[in-house]
Amino acid sequence: MFTLDLSGRRALVLGVANHRSLAWAIAKQLHAAGATLCLTYAGERLQKGVEELAATLPGTLVLPCDVTDDAQIDSVARELGQRWGAIEMLVHGVAFANKEDLEGSFVATSREGFRIALEVSAYSLINVANRVLPLLEKNGAAIVSLTYLAAERAVPSYNVMGSAKAVLEQATRQMAYELGPKRIRVNAVSAGPVSTLAARGIKGFVGMHKDHAERAALKRNITPEEVGAAALFLLTDMSSGVTGEVLYVDAGYRIMGV
Ligand SMILES: NC(=O)c1ccc[n+]([C@@H]2O[C@H](COP(=O)([O-])OP(=O)(O)OC[C@H]3O[C@@H](n4cnc5c(N)ncnc54)[C@H](O)[C@@H]3O)[C@@H](O)[C@H]2O)c1
Repeated sequence: MFTLDLSGRRALVLGVANHRSLAWAIAKQLHAAGATLCLTYAGERLQKGVEELAATLPGTLVLPCDVTDDAQIDSVARELGQRWGAIEMLVHGVAFANKEDLEGSFVATSREGFRIALEVSAYSLINVANRVLPLLEKNGAAIVSLTYLAAERAVPSYNVMGSAKAVLEQATRQMAYELGPKRIRVNAVSAGPVSTLAARGIKGFVGMHKDHAERAALKRNITPEEVGAAALFLLTDMSSGVTGEVLYVDAGYRIMGV
C-alpha cells in the first residue's frame, strides 16, 4: 500500500519568493504530508518574506541560495549534510530572464540574455542536483522541477524562456537516465499559467491567462494547489515507477486542437 506519510523525509525547496510562488504551494503540501523542509531564497531582498512564510511551517529551515553562485549551493549542501545527512526530495521552482528578453523579438535575444535565462532556469537544475548528489544518493530521492508548454510550442513573448524550458525538459530525461541506478527519480510538472511574480514579467500574460481558461478542456485555469498536489504525487512513493516524465497540470489546454 502507498501512503502519503512523509514524516522523516526531508525536502530542499528552491524558488519561494512570496505566497504566490508555485514552490510555496508545493512546500505547503509537503509540510502537510509530514515532510521536513528547507526553503532557500535568492538575495537578501527576499529573506524576510521567505522567513515569515517558513515560520508558518514549523521546523522549516531557511537558507540563502542564489543558483548563479556555486559557493551558496555548496553551502546549502554542507549545512543540510550536517543537519540532515540526506535529502529525499528536491523541488526546483527557479526561473529568470531579463525583462527585455520576454517581449519583442526572439531572434534579437542577446548573447548575455540567453546565457542568463538558460543558466538560472535550466542549468541550475543540473548543477544543484550534482552539488547535493551525495545527500540525494543516501536513501534515494525524487526531484521535481516546474516547466511550461513553451518548451515545445511557440508562445508569444515567452521567447528565451521557452528555450530554457526545452533544456529543462531534456535535462529531466537525461538526469532520469543517469540517476535512475542511484534510485533518484527526476520529473517535471508543466503548469498552466498562474499569476505569480515570474509570470507577470511576461508581456501579455493577463490576456494569455484569460485565453487559456477559454480554450482549456476544463474551461478554467489551474490553481497553485493543483500544481502542489501533482508535485506531491511525483515526490512520493505514489509515483515510484515514474521518472523522466513531464506531467501537464494545465486544465487540458495542451490536448486541444483548436
Ligand atoms: N506561473 C506560471 O504561470 C508558470 C507556469 C509554468 C511554469 N512556471 C514555472 O514555475 C517556476 C516558479 O515560478 P513562479 O511562477 O512560481 O514564479 P516566482 O517568481 O514566484 O518564482 C520564481 C523563483 O525563481 C527565483 N529565482 C530567480 N532567480 C534566481 C536565482 N539566481 N537563484 C535562485 N532563485 C532564483 C525567484 O527568487 C523566485 O523565487 C518557474 O520555473 C516558472 O517558469 C510558472
